[in-house]
Amino acid sequence: MAEQQSYKLPDKLPGHVGIIMDGNGRWAKNKGLPRTAGHKAGVDAAREIVRFSGDIGLEHLTLYAFSTENWRRPPKEINFLMRLMKRLLRDEVEDLIKNNVKLRVIGNFKNMGKDMVDEINRAIDLTKNVTGLNLNLALSYGGRDEIIMAVNKIIEQVKKGEHPEINEESFKHYLFTEGLPDPDLIIRTSGEMRVSNFLIYQGAYAEYYVTDIFWPNFSPEEFVKALNEYAHRTRRFGKV
Ligand code: FPP
Repeated sequence: MAEQQSYKLPDKLPGHVGIIMDGNGRWAKNKGLPRTAGHKAGVDAAREIVRFSGDIGLEHLTLYAFSTENWRRPPKEINFLMRLMKRLLRDEVEDLIKNNVKLRVIGNFKNMGKDMVDEINRAIDLTKNVTGLNLNLALSYGGRDEIIMAVNKIIEQVKKGEHPEINEESFKHYLFTEGLPDPDLIIRTSGEMRVSNFLIYQGAYAEYYVTDIFWPNFSPEEFVKALNEYAHRTRRFGKV
């Protein structure tokens, strides 16, 4: 808490922040280290941001940890990341509970091993009664994939003779993010000006913030800069 007082937080916080954590590889390369060292440092940054988000009373945080496109990385890197995340889910769950963080995982589990899916479900179950920050990990997540899966769920209902009314709001119930508010602010690190298939339906009116900082260097102080910039934006949602 003492640390928190040195930051100047805006009066108005976004309800839901999404983060595209990018630049682990470049961070490592700049230091002459293997990419895996960048991912390990990325985990440390994520841990700090999650803790800080809880401390400042943020309600929803979604971290883009692994995209459907990331399955096209070299098998060695995929294996490393999967092992890393499995270990994280197992080892960090106690800390999540202690810090009052409730976990949810959004994504398509079909390419994951059963042991990974079991680990995910176990961690979700253990934090299910927690009431603080809602942490959503986007794992094997892709916005297009999510929309196609939603359409297929609707087709299944129709085949069964149901007639669901589909509109912009009701469609959200078919997405992985069912029940979550749309992201207000989406942050991307390492300077790329891309959406990369992240929350493309839900983020239609999100404010974007891009920083050149590589993810392992993204600190609470940098987060506060983004929150302050968000607080000064005027959101019109298409209105005048
Ligand atoms: C981003 O850098 C790396 C990822 C999105 C992979 C996984 C993320 C982490 C290990 C961070 C924390 C994870 C969790 C589960 C909280 P990149 O590899 O795309 O870097 P580059 O664009 O510089 O190559």
